[in-house]
Amino acid sequence: METKVLKPLNNTREDAAIRTAAEILSDGGLVGLPTETVYGLAANAYDEAAVRAIFAAKGRPQDNPLIVHIAGPKELDALCRSVPEAARRLAAAFWPGPLTMVLPKSDRVSGTVSAGLDTVAVRMPSHPVARAVIEAAGVPLAAPSANLSGSPSPTTAAHVLADLDGRIPLILDGGACSVGVESTVLSFAGGVPRVLRPGGVTPAQIEAVLGAVEIDYAVDHQIAAGARVASPGMKYKHYAPKARVTIVDGPFEAFAAYLRAHRGKGVYALCFTGEETALDVPCIVYGGSDDEAAQARGLFAALRALDEAGAERVYARCPKKQGVALAVYNRLLRAAAFEVILL
Ligand code: TXA
Ligand code: MG
Repeated sequence: METKVLKPLNNTREDAAIRTAAEILSDGGLVGLPTETVYGLAANAYDEAAVRAIFAAKGRPQDNPLIVHIAGPKELDALCRSVPEAARRLAAAFWPGPLTMVLPKSDRVSGTVSAGLDTVAVRMPSHPVARAVIEAAGVPLAAPSANLSGSPSPTTAAHVLADLDGRIPLILDGGACSVGVESTVLSFAGGVPRVLRPGGVTPAQIEAVLGAVEIDYAVDHQIAAGARVASPGMKYKHYAPKARVTIVDGPFEAFAAYLRAHRGKGVYALCFTGEETALDVPCIVYGGSDDEAAQARGLFAALRALDEAGAERVYARCPKKQGVALAVYNRLLRAAAFEVILL
């Protein structure tokens, strides 16, 4: 299959690229498209065969459920059996935007989308291309990140093409993603809403609206093999470049000394912007040390750049573990298969 890359000129239903995407989706095909978080691989959420094709194109494990993307909060009622008042308040506060809510699913949502769970994850993206495509398709779109399963999430159309060329008919190019890490996944399954995956909307922001929020243990801890986790996606080694990555957690001086002692063929530093001049090994940067938004935007591209550079052994600077940087830390921990050195 030939994979076309089209750039929408304006983000309306009349735009030729948006129309092509909507036609492919109506015919049961898959489209790679930009959202504000990362690029998604979209299919009509109500089309079983199309949803199954997502799993095949990505090589995604069948037990990892998909997020359903909607054009507005009203669509929640078709997808969910019930919607708690707290969820409506969060939708009003953060949609469109990088917040996904896990809610009791209605019968319209297939077990393929929910991977057999009784819940469905829903979000309303803010990216104008994503919104135009959902509206033009006229149905909710199931969409995981548009990478091959296990590799870093794509934040540009070129990343999607690198992973899925020949596997899907169309990628819409909407430029680089403005958030750069995937949405916050929030579950309403228990009493107090719980962050299953940190993202662009921070726990403090959710707390400001709801008064209380919990953070799932699996966000920053490794879960024993075979253990049950609330969000199946969090149990996989994820976002991993080919190189072995280790997080080196400590002050910059100690990091620099550690690298001086460990330099060698194929050894790279994944560091904060500006630090590369003070390190004795080749470096890939992923944002300023105090700029968590830049770190979020830069992390996945930096992991891909390490592969392109031929890195074999990577020592990474540790992000702060709060705010948006909690999401950056969560992704980097998985890229490092939870290997952390404390200095
Ligand atoms: O920002 C995003 O969320 C991007 C863009 C494309 O919207 N999508 C994305 O999808 O990151 P994906 O499939 O790569 O990650 C979805 C995460 C997985 O960790 C999955 O296990 C979890 O959400 N998830 C989906 N449905 C769930 C459910 N019913 N219960 C618990 N976790 C769920
Ligand atoms: Mg993903």
